[in-house]
Amino acid sequence: MSTIALPEARYHPVSRLLHWAIVALILLEYPLAWLMTDHRGAPEDALATWHIGVGTTILTLFVLRLLWRLIKTPPPHPPMPAWQALAAQATHALLYAGFVLLPLLGWLAASAREWPVHWLGLWPLPALFPANATWAELLGDAHQVVALGLLGLIGLHVAAALYHAFILRDGSLRRML
Ligand code: HEM
Ligand code: HEM
Repeated sequence: MSTIALPEARYHPVSRLLHWAIVALILLEYPLAWLMTDHRGAPEDALATWHIGVGTTILTLFVLRLLWRLIKTPPPHPPMPAWQALAAQATHALLYAGFVLLPLLGWLAASAREWPVHWLGLWPLPALFPANATWAELLGDAHQVVALGLLGLIGLHVAAALYHAFILRDGSLRRML
């Protein structure tokens, strides 16, 4: 009797690689932000330089991920109530939008503060905003607020992943491992 080949129920290796590379960088990026000394005026602070370098890398990887997501549809998810599927979709959409908006706000704030922006310290990037102290405060504050909001969203996303893995045991997490 011939066996029927089931469709691969995991995310594509590229999706998984991008997902976990971004997770690692985000785990680094928040502590860098909080440890930056005198973050409101020290472009020469090595941690601020790292924050900008890692942040622009996260932006690049997230844009790549978004483009990849448009080409590659994710594997079907295990059966779940419609509200759960909708909540997952909404969370993922907000994460995609948020992690493109957040580094852009950081880039705008850094530009307004006249901090040099670069890609991982390797390539200088242009300023996106003219030097302006008032706007630097506003954009810096917006960047902080969005960063905290996204931290909450990540918490929700991780809680949902763990709930599916350990309470429902429906194999959702395995698709991303
Ligand atoms: C996913 C990426 C990023 C995360 C999670 C993140 C997170 C944060 C957080 C939490 C703070 C607040 C620090 C505090 O409370 O003292 C901060 C500040 C800051 N970040 Fe980011 N950031 C990211 C990307 C970027 C990028 C790409 C840039 C610049 C190109 C940048 C530039 C800045 C600047 C200039 C500040 C100081 C804000 C101010 O001017 O008041 N960030 N970041
Ligand atoms: C830094 C934080 C994280 C971000 C920004 C993030 C972002 C995302 C995004 C945007 C998706 C949607 C993938 C798609 O369908 O296109 C996703 C899926 C997923 N993530 Fe995360 N993630 C993070 C951390 C984690 C962690 C720590 C876990 C595990 C504990 C996890 C487990 C999953 C799983 C299982 C999926 C597949 C969900 C499904 O298709 O229903 N993520 N993640």
